Amino acid sequence: MAQRDLQTRALDNLQGKGTNPFGVEGALRYDMDAQHMPPHYKRAHKIQNDLVITSLRKSEQNKLHVVVDLGCGTANDGIDILSRTENEFYLGVDNSVPMIERAKCKMQSRAFEKRSYFLIRDFRQMSVMDITGTLSLLKLECRIKAVMSTLALHHYELEEKRHVYTLAHNLLPPGGRLVLTDLFSNGIQGCAQYALYWEIDQVCGTIENSKEKPIDSKLATTRSVDHYLRSNRPQRLLDEVGVLHDCGFAIVDIVYRSGQLSVIVAQTEK
Ligand SMILES: C[S@@+](CC[C@H](N)C(=O)[O-])C[C@H]1O[C@@H](n2cnc3c(N)ncnc32)[C@H](O)[C@@H]1O
Repeated sequence: MAQRDLQTRALDNLQGKGTNPFGVEGALRYDMDAQHMPPHYKRAHKIQNDLVITSLRKSEQNKLHVVVDLGCGTANDGIDILSRTENEFYLGVDNSVPMIERAKCKMQSRAFEKRSYFLIRDFRQMSVMDITGTLSLLKLECRIKAVMSTLALHHYELEEKRHVYTLAHNLLPPGGRLVLTDLFSNGIQGCAQYALYWEIDQVCGTIENSKEKPIDSKLATTRSVDHYLRSNRPQRLLDEVGVLHDCGFAIVDIVYRSGQLSVIVAQTEK
């Protein structure tokens, strides 16, 4: 579809002007939206979780292997990871109480409450001690082997992300990995716009094809054109890679790219 058509379609579908997509109302509809995201989101989650599981399995025996998820939401990825592993522990961090409440309920319903823990915190203000101290209080014989963050950072400026990437780097052992899935922009204006409108077109497609009732225009949701046009602030992918290197990561790989969505793996020095 030509860029102008994509833009027109995006504006025609403008809806979902919610105030807080992770508030009480937003948390309730988040999992329904997550289920209906376009196929490239599902693919990115799968690649990301496979890579996290691979990192966790490289751990030494006799220790619980921990993945820390920064901006865990309702813990869909945590549930996928725990259901495909045996000796792994999931520590989710999020600053939305409604999202964490849902995450805890879902962990309980899957009998994963002993293999998971949640911290209600703003990850931009956390220290390594906040996380390692929590794990010691839980009296777990464990080692953090992976850090992940999915679709939680694209509202922030690069300067704010530096703190989060430095935190991730300092939590990881030598050769440890941060698996980052998020929306990123492009350096060339026309390419950036194309990526944005392609992304919006995919989301519009899932809204138009779904059998759900039309979204109430006041309801908070991330699955809306409004969210892509007015809320998201994706940074340029290559700038992001530069910041990850600045924060101490030795190798940064772009594992997947489709529209604005990318899976990045950043590894610490071995
Ligand atoms: C789009 S959701 C993604 C949730 C989950 N990672 C997933 O992929 O399903 C973004 C999440 O990041 C959380 N978040 C955003 N900024 C945050 C911050 N500064 N500190 C902690 N959590 C944050 C939001 O509350 C929300 O639950």
